[in-house]
Amino acid sequence: MKKIPSSEITPEHIYRSRRSFLKSLGFIGAGAAVLAACQGQLPEDTSSAAPAGGSTQADQLTSYEDVVSYNNYYEFTTNKTGVARLAENFQTDPWKVEVGGLVNNPGTYDLDRIRSEFQPEERIYRMRCVEGWSMVIPWLGFPISKLLEQVEPTSDAKYVRFETLYDPEQMPGVSNSYFPWPYVEGLRLDEAMNDLAILSTGLYGKELLPQSGAPIRLVVPWKYGFKSIKSIVRIDLVSEMPVSLWMAAGPSEYGFYANVNPKVDHPRWSQATERRIGESGRIPTEMFNGYEEEVAALYEGMDLAVNF
Ligand code: MTE
Repeated sequence: MKKIPSSEITPEHIYRSRRSFLKSLGFIGAGAAVLAACQGQLPEDTSSAAPAGGSTQADQLTSYEDVVSYNNYYEFTTNKTGVARLAENFQTDPWKVEVGGLVNNPGTYDLDRIRSEFQPEERIYRMRCVEGWSMVIPWLGFPISKLLEQVEPTSDAKYVRFETLYDPEQMPGVSNSYFPWPYVEGLRLDEAMNDLAILSTGLYGKELLPQSGAPIRLVVPWKYGFKSIKSIVRIDLVSEMPVSLWMAAGPSEYGFYANVNPKVDHPRWSQATERRIGESGRIPTEMFNGYEEEVAALYEGMDLAVNF
């Protein structure tokens, strides 16, 4: 599939008509085809590319309006429809991401460096929040493996730890002392090296807005949404499993792995189905959010009910 340069700003109606055209060709619509199309590896027979998990539902893109007005970003507020307004004036330029820890080439990545060294490409991913809702979002981003290759993790590096900006002056929600700020997340190094894991700088052909995690966030489509940490300022390679904000806040409810798994219930609700924002009814949730083929090997031999 054609890569969209970040400079190409695509209004949603043009974006959608381009997508309908692709859809008429069978390039998008069914789960497996969505992924394959994004990776430029179209299945030869797209008619067989139905989403895994028995779902016959085609993946419709969630509207841009819904993507940017229904958000989880607790540094601003826990009210999903209130984030956009509170984050409106969040300063995302200049911005620096410090990349270090167990690496041979630590570095400071400001926005110019990120723009010049990594070419964003489009990836349409299903995103599943642990709360039971989901969206289908055309992200712009680049595999985090590209960044990791530049900084060269040492042989002691086993995990990647990510940290969001902590700025009480701009982020009213951090006054909520229930949470151990800053927001921290982590991946095992081999998970981070998987091609599906991207650092995103935009969506729908436009730069990210603050509520979506501007200027740069993680997107890990086979894990519950809370792993996809926003507005990143630090990335460290470490030897021990990082303790994420959610693990610290609710260890019995939120594990390190957080793989989308319809068979492992959240202690307070089922994870078997999900509600697509903008659509009616609920649809079955798929193992690894439908990306089983790409990621199941990462967890071979692990008990996913224990490593939830
Ligand atoms: N990152 C930060 N820094 N703070 C947050 O509160 N919420 C997470 C994740 N990343 C969150 C975050 C959760 S729970 C979800 S579901 C997704 O962001 C939501 O991303 P979206 O608002 O772009 O849909």
